[in-house]
Amino acid sequence: MRLIITPDAEGVAREGARLVADLVRARPSAVLGLAAGATPVGLYRRLVEAQRAGTLDLSGITVIGLDDYLGLPPGHQAACRTVLERSLLAPLNLPEARRHLLGAGDPAVACAEHERAIAACGGIDLQILGIGVNGHIGFNEPGAAFDARTHQVALAATTRTINRKDFAEGEPVPSAAITMGIGTILEARRILLLATGASKADALAAAVLGTVTEAVPASALQRHADVTVIADFAAAAGLSS
Ligand code: GLP
Repeated sequence: MRLIITPDAEGVAREGARLVADLVRARPSAVLGLAAGATPVGLYRRLVEAQRAGTLDLSGITVIGLDDYLGLPPGHQAACRTVLERSLLAPLNLPEARRHLLGAGDPAVACAEHERAIAACGGIDLQILGIGVNGHIGFNEPGAAFDARTHQVALAATTRTINRKDFAEGEPVPSAAITMGIGTILEARRILLLATGASKADALAAAVLGTVTEAVPASALQRHADVTVIADFAAAAGLSS
């Protein structure tokens, strides 16, 4: 694993955007796997700014969504699909045919179609990931099998509690989701894991330095040959001892 530690979330966004930009310049038709959540949004903003400034051409990329809740109405503010569309895909005006997102339609059909879409575009060049406080990647919660493909999951209580902030008061947080499996994620040619804030420090340390175990889904990344971790000082606090 390559580790880049930078003072703050803005630095994580800057370093992450630089890595993505280098990749897309070398391969304009790059296939990018995209996490939603709050962490990568600054990186996406920088990509949009670069495209607008004319310093980067993202018009040829294909995107693959990492995960999403089940059962949310279209356009719900917490849906991963909405976050990705709003922060990146709509501003880039990326054609629908090159957006492969989860979160709509029959779950079993959506899972199978997602795997087919990934294969049809030749696999993922770079998978962008965040990390959950409980060590999850995508919605692969502790205990998830390392060889799993895109599948439906039950969300862990911790995840539902932490993500409560993204929902209106009194609105139920979904209990189910779809996620690319860890097996699917590990097939990406490169992986970029982003972490910001003190709440991620324990999970990041367990993922990077700890035992490789299904109890810590992100520890599976130790089995991948090309992982870059970009963390701010707070999230990296457990890595320096
Ligand atoms: C969420 C998402 C993940 C995300 C992670 C961290 O629940 N399902 O894809 O990467 O947890 O989220 P955040 O970046 O908001 O901390």
